[in-house]
Amino acid sequence: MADNNPFPGENNTGHIWDDNLRELDNPPPRWWMIAFWASILWVVGYAILYPMIPGLTGYTKGIMGWTQIGEYREGLDEVEMVRAEFETQLQGMTAKEILANEGLSSYTIASAKVLFGDNCAACHGSNGQGGPGYPVIADDDWLYGGAVETIEQTITNGRMGIMPAHAKLLSEAEVDKLAAAVMSGNPAAEPLYMEKACFACHGPDASGMQALGSANLTDAVWRFSEADQLASVKQTIRHGVNDTSDPLSREAVMPKFGDRLSAGEIKKLAVYVYKLGGGQ
Ligand code: HEC
Ligand code: HEC
Repeated sequence: MADNNPFPGENNTGHIWDDNLRELDNPPPRWWMIAFWASILWVVGYAILYPMIPGLTGYTKGIMGWTQIGEYREGLDEVEMVRAEFETQLQGMTAKEILANEGLSSYTIASAKVLFGDNCAACHGSNGQGGPGYPVIADDDWLYGGAVETIEQTITNGRMGIMPAHAKLLSEAEVDKLAAAVMSGNPAAEPLYMEKACFACHGPDASGMQALGSANLTDAVWRFSEADQLASVKQTIRHGVNDTSDPLSREAVMPKFGDRLSAGEIKKLAVYVYKLGGGQ
């Protein structure tokens, strides 16, 4: 083959295509060889230092003693140290003081998220958005008040707003009039509102009384919201809320958590809910 090489004296391998396309026999570039040997050395070094080669009963452990789980635990210890520092600080502080400190608030909110998911989300929704029969706690419209101390009390002691059933006290026409007045947003203008003593709980201007948790009847925010809102209002007027003498009465009980959660946990939840709802 070499004899009829049309390009003699050249370091080609004798493989020639298309008359003049030759395969040459040059050594690889120097930098390439260095990288080649270095990578082999690196593998050897790595195998000595770190766990690597699998065997029948285990694997080589490497002389550094590094393990993935060890690295994970170290990370965890670090997190635990930061956490412990925050927790100690929180213990001596009121919810209000926590809210005044941005770093501590962020920590508290992050750590209360799980508590909220476990204890509150089933009724109030995962973001406090509420649900049929359960109030929204992610807005600034409060039945009982949005001061962080009030929220803390609500969680600790529970709440149960009571409105007596009025079915036996009002004629159908009166229910219709009162319901229409509530829907209009200004029930106080309806003479029956005073006559039938609605004002005693909902206040003379019908904006609600937070001590009783009586809903504000002048805003368009509905505590009991249904597709047919007029029918919903009539239902509440006729059968009341938590009135045990009326089987059709609405049930609205916020359970007490004072005996289920620690004071520290409740404090965190109060901060969390306060931040959800833009406070008072
Ligand atoms: C079993 C269902 C249920 C669970 C669980 C529950 N709640 Fe409630 N919550 C209610 C109901 C119902 C009300 C309204 C009570 C009323 O109308 O008188 C309420 C009211 C509230 C209010 C007052 C809202 C306002 O407008 O003043 C807050 C704050 C609140 N809940 C926070 C929480 C937190 C925090 C948790 C978890 C620790 C929680 N709730 C768990 C049913 C629940
Ligand atoms: C003894 C106190 C009391 C009296 C009297 C009372 N209410 Fe109420 N009412 C409440 C409370 C408390 C709530 C909120 C219940 C809850 O959310 O747990 C409420 C809720 C309502 C709601 C539901 C509002 C919503 O946003 O869905 C309507 C409507 C209403 N009342 C109308 C009336 C009318 C009309 C009268 C007069 C006939 C009246 N109430 C008398 C305490 C009272």
